[in-house]
Amino acid sequence: MTKVVRVNALKPDRGVIDEVANVLKSGGLCAFPTETVYGLGADGYNREAVMRIFKIKGRPPDNPLIMHISSREMLDELVIDVPEIAYRLIDFAWPGPLTLVLKKSAKVPKEVTAGLPTVAIRCPGHPVALDLINALGRPIAAPSANLSGRPSPTNAHHVIEDLMGLIDVIVDSGETFFGVESTIIDVTSDPPTLLRPGPVAVEDLIRVLGKEVKIPLFARGLSESEVSLSPGTKYRHYSPNTPLLLVELEDYRDVKALTTVVLSHANELTSKGLKVAIVASSETAEQYRTMGYDVLVLGSRSNLFEVAHNLFDVLRLCDSLKADIAVVEGFNEVGLGLAIMNRLRKAAKYRVLTTLPK
Ligand code: TXA
Ligand code: MG
Repeated sequence: MTKVVRVNALKPDRGVIDEVANVLKSGGLCAFPTETVYGLGADGYNREAVMRIFKIKGRPPDNPLIMHISSREMLDELVIDVPEIAYRLIDFAWPGPLTLVLKKSAKVPKEVTAGLPTVAIRCPGHPVALDLINALGRPIAAPSANLSGRPSPTNAHHVIEDLMGLIDVIVDSGETFFGVESTIIDVTSDPPTLLRPGPVAVEDLIRVLGKEVKIPLFARGLSESEVSLSPGTKYRHYSPNTPLLLVELEDYRDVKALTTVVLSHANELTSKGLKVAIVASSETAEQYRTMGYDVLVLGSRSNLFEVAHNLFDVLRLCDSLKADIAVVEGFNEVGLGLAIMNRLRKAAKYRVLTTLPK
């Protein structure tokens, strides 16, 4: 039986938080909100509970979890040999949507890190997440609270879709703020390596560090890492059942050119007898509707926060349109656009890159 409890996102009820913390203390699992996406949490020091997370999600055992902490003491307990640049990033972004990969201490269970010598750590900014970690008094090990391969949950309804009946408690605090998972940076390498783009823009990381950050192809969603650098990058992600065709341009400023390219793909697929839906920006949606297509709107190209916020909900909604394929507009890889394109490329079954005539 899964209990769903509502908790105010900004003023979490102490009694309910304690109740959920007690579930974790006795080895149970709970889904809880963070400012990025909902997490599926266990007591980070309880090996059995951590192993149950993998089982319930259907998560490959070589894909490690993030330890969520609420204090400097917890950080010190989990890591060794912290480079000075890590503290610069911590001062800049914590609490918030930035995860650091650091050398792990002996205290971190190998079940959490999938046997790696490093551990991913983040101090979330969401009041419910922070209160829950404090009430437990230990780090919470948590991946996103979706079944493996599905889009990450950005509201409790998404969690219920995937995990109802499989875990002990779902804490419902409404929609998450950012809607894409935290930025992950490995600071054990020099230069540091971006493992996953997220709400903290890589441009800001470079500025704060005053040095270069390596951006591997897989961080852009473009190729899978050969070595298991960030094991999560090996697996297909975020996928609705409906296959996606991601339409990429070198530049999206010319909205008219974009709609022309998207429509040419949509029309071609339609002529093959397929039912086609389109995932678009608010600037272009109406034009596709006029042409008779079902359209899901991500948000405005001039507000990528809106696009990121809606992204996973729209990917989940794709299946409700009962289309054979959805044609999806790409975005510029600037700021949050890098995180958006990483998710879209991983979700898409097909990609086309069109070079416009100059
Ligand atoms: O925003 C977030 O980060 C959310 C919320 C719940 O905190 N969590 C999240 O967890 O997205 P998950 O498990 O879905 O993604 C964590 C990623 C995985 O791709 C995993 O491979 C990577 O972090 N990771 C964890 N530990 C690592 C390590 N030691 N080295 C490299 N990558 C690591
Ligand atoms: Mg995940």
